[in-house]
Amino acid sequence: MNKNIVCIGAGYIGGPTMAVIAKMNPTRKVVVVDINAERIAAWNSADYSLPIYEPGLVDVVKETRGKNLFFSTDIEGAIKECDIIFVGVNTPTKTFGRGAGMASDLQYWEATAREIKKFATSDKLVIEKSTLPVRTAAAMEAILNDHAKYRLTVLSNPEFLAEGTAIKDLLEPDRVLIGGPTTPEGLAAVEEVVDIYASWVPREKILTTNVWSAELTKLAANAFLAQRVSSINAIAGLCEATGADVDEVARVIGADGRIGPKFLKAGPGFGGSCFKKDVLNLAYLCESFGLHTAAEYWMGVIKMNEHQQERIVTRLLKEMFNTIANKKVALFGFAFKADTGDTRETPAGTVARNLAEEHALISVTDPKALPNAKKDLADLANVAFEEDEYAAATDADAIVLMTDWRHYPALDWKKIFSLMRKPALVFDTRNCLDAAALREIGFKVMNIGK
Ligand code: UDX
Ligand code: ADP
Repeated sequence: MNKNIVCIGAGYIGGPTMAVIAKMNPTRKVVVVDINAERIAAWNSADYSLPIYEPGLVDVVKETRGKNLFFSTDIEGAIKECDIIFVGVNTPTKTFGRGAGMASDLQYWEATAREIKKFATSDKLVIEKSTLPVRTAAAMEAILNDHAKYRLTVLSNPEFLAEGTAIKDLLEPDRVLIGGPTTPEGLAAVEEVVDIYASWVPREKILTTNVWSAELTKLAANAFLAQRVSSINAIAGLCEATGADVDEVARVIGADGRIGPKFLKAGPGFGGSCFKKDVLNLAYLCESFGLHTAAEYWMGVIKMNEHQQERIVTRLLKEMFNTIANKKVALFGFAFKADTGDTRETPAGTVARNLAEEHALISVTDPKALPNAKKDLADLANVAFEEDEYAAATDADAIVLMTDWRHYPALDWKKIFSLMRKPALVFDTRNCLDAAALREIGFKVMNIGK
């Protein structure tokens, strides 16, 4: 009954998801494997310095690791021993060949499929967790079952967790989605996956569909969310030009029950590993089925996002008399959002590069993302990395707040003012600081959409 689980890929999705599955299914053995030995060592580290930062994750790992949750590099052994395989390997946007810049690079997924086929010694369920183009499952099913000795049934169980709230999202999901073949064996396989989640998720929140619907839903859900961010950012530019206040506009728009208040915060644009990749994927899919207008529509969401990030530096330049060469600009926050150390596609990266092109002197501070920031900006000269916000602000001409870390509003802004060169400018791209209080101290303050 309680079948063993393996997850291939110990990243942002595989790690937290399997930790929660292990916590809520104490009688199942859950093994997370990865080709990256350093990553596995970090998951296994005695002092719990896990490879990713996620609030609440350490507690779940402390509770389960060594009991029914294991991290290992022994992919072959893990595949042999388990009945259910989740695949959470990375599927970045292709950088070469057909679909470069748009389609997903499936080489890691395919390599994994071939490993599963090679090492399997019994029938297994193979469950997609990574975001993948629609119909990938069918391709994988073909690879896996071509001259195979065992039946490998492919299902799709897309992950909807958001970084920074992953543990909460996993423990109290709005919904869990499981897609499977509509054959009797497929339906039985879906039920096996339903059982894993039903140990803590109310049955009515576990939705089942066919495989393709599940794959497409993931792309569509992320595209809808990204589209909301681009829509409010498009309104933000108009607010700046006309004297309206985007936060007021968003509050009133969101009061309409049909629209709702979430995901209406104007800011520096969306980052993270999912939104851009998934919207590009969706646009590519539309394009490849001849739906050019639909493809263009979704590409508009990306274009708007890029425009938003460019606008930040353009506005900063204008405010600083069209030159920031040799002026010091402190970036407060480098993660793509608060409560994560993840910097993939972070707007702060784009802004840092634009500032470097203008020959600014950059200092970067972030409570969790500095190790990633250092790697991301390794090729740039004139960038300093400071753990301490006050050190980052010392002698700065401007602070650009990029990430809405919760402690930023509570910093000693009087002290920061005293450390900066005058006129001290704060560009709060998250609209999270008290602008009136800052102005009272003497700062020049800029916001998004005001
Ligand atoms: C997203 C989806 O929310 C999640 O369901 C999916 O599984 C993966 O992609 P994530 O990228 O981790 O999760 O974070 P999310 O909270 O969605 O934020 C994405 C980006 O949009 C961030 O850069 C965030 O700052 C930005 N954002 C979000 C806004 O600018 N305004 C908002 O109102 C909301
Ligand atoms: P995500 O955000 O989708 O979880 P990550 O990049 O954080 O993506 O994690 C994906 C993980 O998958 C990485 O740790 C990577 O080493 C691992 N991986 C990629 N290919 C394979 C493979 N063939 N076998 C095992 N692990 C793999």
